[in-house]
Amino acid sequence: MTDEARPYGGGTSDPALKRVRTRHFQRAKEDGIKITGLTSYDFLSASIFDEAGIDFLLVGDSAGNTVFGYDTTIPVTLEELIPLTAAVVRGVKRALVVADMPFGSYENGPDEALRTAIRFMKETGCHAVKCEGGVRSAKQIKRIVRAGIPVMGHVGYTPQSEHGLGGHIIQGRGDEGADQLLADAHAVEDAGAFAVVLEMVPSEIAGRVTQELTIPTLSVGAGPKCDGQLLVWSDWAGFTRGRIPRFVKQYAQIGDTLMQAASEFRADVESGAYPSAEHEYGE
Ligand code: KIV
Repeated sequence: MTDEARPYGGGTSDPALKRVRTRHFQRAKEDGIKITGLTSYDFLSASIFDEAGIDFLLVGDSAGNTVFGYDTTIPVTLEELIPLTAAVVRGVKRALVVADMPFGSYENGPDEALRTAIRFMKETGCHAVKCEGGVRSAKQIKRIVRAGIPVMGHVGYTPQSEHGLGGHIIQGRGDEGADQLLADAHAVEDAGAFAVVLEMVPSEIAGRVTQELTIPTLSVGAGPKCDGQLLVWSDWAGFTRGRIPRFVKQYAQIGDTLMQAASEFRADVESGAYPSAEHEYGE
């Protein structure tokens, strides 16, 4: 399908779509057009991904690992995510920006969840929020949606529950796992979410969820049958040092590029090769 023929998205080459909205997610699913998402935590990366036509940017609590250097996403706070989300919003013209509700900011019930979502909307200008959990988070999602705030669900492997789940483990396997995943995904849809992330689940069961739900499914390691794909940008761009998950395809090696650039800069400063005349101001 050419960009011109697309009723939705197709990158910045689609002049008709000035701003991605939640209703475009629904239309994309109905029309069989795949949705693309990346995480982003700053103004510069957000403006590049937006210009490239990425449909939505998630200011994930993966910032705990990628920005703040924590071992898990559990310590991340709302106060830490608000300025990052505001910076990402300032970087976009077209993409839908989703703020991730951090651990401890919604589990206590619908009132707490709504307070958190309202803070994100008022203080950052984001367009939607995301929260982890299916059946267990349904009441929270319902309350936020009723207040007019779009919610993206997140089921399957949910990193904030790493310890409860017993580690970094694929979800939805076996009859029991599949039943749980389906129940969680349906609970999120019934609560009014506009889309749901499926993280680290086998492709076949992700395909079943995608067929059963009317809202789009967004895969993070859930295979090609989902309605869209989402990746953590530092994994995807080869910025992350160390191990990355098997489901990630790396589209660049910017970590190596930066390492080489920093080494050359150091060598040039030490040898006196930098700065040279072209970098100096005259009288
Ligand atoms: O925080 C994050 O980046 C996420 C995605 C991996 C879904 O929640």
